[in-house]
Amino acid sequence: MARQEREPAVLEKLGQQLLAWYDHNQRDLPWRRSRDPYAIWVSEVMLQQTRVAVVEERYRAFLEQFPTVMALAAAPEQDVLALWSGLGYYRRARMLHKAAQFVAGNRNGILPATSAELRLLPGIGAYTAAAIASIAHGERVAVVDGNVERVLCRLQGWDAAGRTGGAALRRRIEALADRLLDAERPGDSNQALMEMGATVCVPRNPKCMSCPLTRDCKTRGEHKTQPRPRMLSQEVACALVVRTIGEPGQAYREVLLEQRPDSQTVMPGMWQLPVLRDAAVPDGHLLMTVRHAIMQVNYYVRVRAASESEVEALTFAVGERRWVPLVQAAGMALTGLTRKVLTRVRMLRALPPGSIAAPPAARVP
Ligand code: ADE
Repeated sequence: MARQEREPAVLEKLGQQLLAWYDHNQRDLPWRRSRDPYAIWVSEVMLQQTRVAVVEERYRAFLEQFPTVMALAAAPEQDVLALWSGLGYYRRARMLHKAAQFVAGNRNGILPATSAELRLLPGIGAYTAAAIASIAHGERVAVVDGNVERVLCRLQGWDAAGRTGGAALRRRIEALADRLLDAERPGDSNQALMEMGATVCVPRNPKCMSCPLTRDCKTRGEHKTQPRPRMLSQEVACALVVRTIGEPGQAYREVLLEQRPDSQTVMPGMWQLPVLRDAAVPDGHLLMTVRHAIMQVNYYVRVRAASESEVEALTFAVGERRWVPLVQAAGMALTGLTRKVLTRVRMLRALPPGSIAAPPAARVP
C-alpha cells in the first residue's frame, strides 16, 4: 500500500469542502436538532447497525418516554426493551440502560463531557464516546465508523481487501480522519464524513458525480473489500394461537406469547410466539412463511395457526407463557420476528409514540 500522504494544505481544503457540502446536503434528522449529550448518545447507539429510517421513528418514541438519563435509569428493563423492539441487537439497549443507571447513581444524571471519561462508562466504546464528545461538546476527536472507513479508503486508494489491512490500515484511517477535522466544528466534520458515506460514497454504485471530493479521490467508484461472509439459512416454525375473550360487543382477542428466559444468550427477557417442535408445517395449516435475517443467518419461519387445545402438543415451551390482549402486545418487548409476524397478519397496530405496556398479569399455568 503506497503511503500517499497529503499535504496539510490539501487536507485543510478537503476538510472545508466536506463541511461546505454537509452544510448544504445534510439530512434533516431529529438528533441533529439537539445538543443534549443524552439525546445524542441515544441516537448514536441506535444508529450502530440500524438504518436511519428505522432509527428516526424509534428515536422520537424513546425520548418521549425517557427524556432524560434519570428517566431511563428509573425504567424497568422490560420497558426499555419494548421501546427498542424492532431495532435489533438488544444488547445495546441493555447496555444503554445499565450505563444510564450508573450515571444516575454515581454522577447525578450528568454524563461526562470528554471522550476519555465517556469511555469509562459501561458499554460506551471509542466510537460512541467520540461521537458524543465531538457533537455535544465540540471536542476535537475523530469518529471512525464503517462509513468513514469506506470514504477515506476510497479517497486515498487504500486497499481495504489486501493483506496490509487490519490494525495498520485502521491506524492510518484514524490518523487521516483526525487531520481532516475542522478545529472549530469537529462534530460537524465527523458527521459530514459519516453522512457522505451514508448518502454519496455508498458501498455499491457510489454517486461520485455528487461527491465534493471527487477531484482528489484516488478511486472514483467501487473499491476492493473483504468478501462478505455468506448468509446461512435455517428453517424454523412458530405457532400463532389466538383466542377471543369477553361478551359479544366487548369481546377482544388475545395472543399466546412466551418470554425467553434470562438464561438465553440471545434476546433474554423478550416475548415471542411459541416455537413448534417440527419445522415442517403441513400445507393446510401454513399461515405464511416469513424471512427474518439476524446477523449472518436468514431464518425462514413458517407460521402455523394453532388452537388453544393443540398448542401444548405442537410446541416446546422455553419460558413462561401468557395470554396477551392484542392491543397490549404492540407495546411489549417483542422479538423482531414476533413483531413482524403479528404485523403481517394485521394483528398489531403500529406502536404509538411513547407507549409501552407492562407484561399482562394472566400467566398460563
Ligand atoms: N451514523 C451514525 N451517526 C451518525 C451521524 N451523527 N451522522 C451521520 N451518520 C451517522
